Amino acid sequence: MNDKVNTAPQIGKDVIESLTLGMYEDCRFIYREYIQNAADAIDKAIDCALLKKGEEAIHVRIDKDKRSISVQDNATGIPKDKVMAILRNIAHSTKKRGEDKGFRGIGRLGGLGYCSKLIFETSYYGEPIKSIMTWDANLLKNIINDRENSEEATEVLSKVTKVETEKESDDAHYFNVIMEDVSSDELLDIESVYDYLSMVAPVDISSSFIFR
Ligand SMILES: Nc1ncnc2c1ncn2[C@@H]1O[C@H](COP(=O)(O)OP(=O)(O)OP(=O)(O)O)[C@@H](O)[C@H]1O
Ligand SMILES: [Mg+2]
Repeated sequence: MNDKVNTAPQIGKDVIESLTLGMYEDCRFIYREYIQNAADAIDKAIDCALLKKGEEAIHVRIDKDKRSISVQDNATGIPKDKVMAILRNIAHSTKKRGEDKGFRGIGRLGGLGYCSKLIFETSYYGEPIKSIMTWDANLLKNIINDRENSEEATEVLSKVTKVETEKESDDAHYFNVIMEDVSSDELLDIESVYDYLSMVAPVDISSSFIFR
């Protein structure tokens, strides 16, 4: 009796699945999440005079042949030193409720359920580099489906992510989400995505939609 287990509380790996995979019935929600994030960053870029009204842009690119998707904005980006803390952690939002659209700190991971690699590429004004954070969605699925091992959620985050940096021009500032090997045909169906975005997008999409 009285076998006191003297360890700190832990959170198992399945929490990652609960938070990021299959949050909504309609997979097109991922576009809403990425456009919301871009719109929040654009508000900040305008507030700090990095962008003038009218210069903001969100480009959604759907490449049906390569089965890839990209959602890119020209707003604040994320400084190199903050990339790990902001993009690798879960539920650590930097945002203020009521001020920003996002607040849960998980929306950007919605793409994990529908691709093999989820990549965030970002550059911050004044820094001569870009950071590239890659989430290996297939490895994440394999780890979660392996019922023999019961890893900690945070251990799994370290295993499935990596960050690289490359040269970039000093004055570049952007955030780009790339999904590779998209598994869902619906996400690559331009008409269907366009219909969805015209209902939910917080911004006028007519001028910022590009397809290949
Ligand atoms: N386009 C972007 N430009 C700059 N920073 C971004 C961008 N997208 C995401 N981020 C940063 O990454 C963080 C996490 O994004 P994520 O979408 O996961 O959470 P959130 O937007 O804070 O909340 P929610 O889960 O409600 O969307 C954001 O708080 C923001 O700091
Ligand atoms: Mg968000």
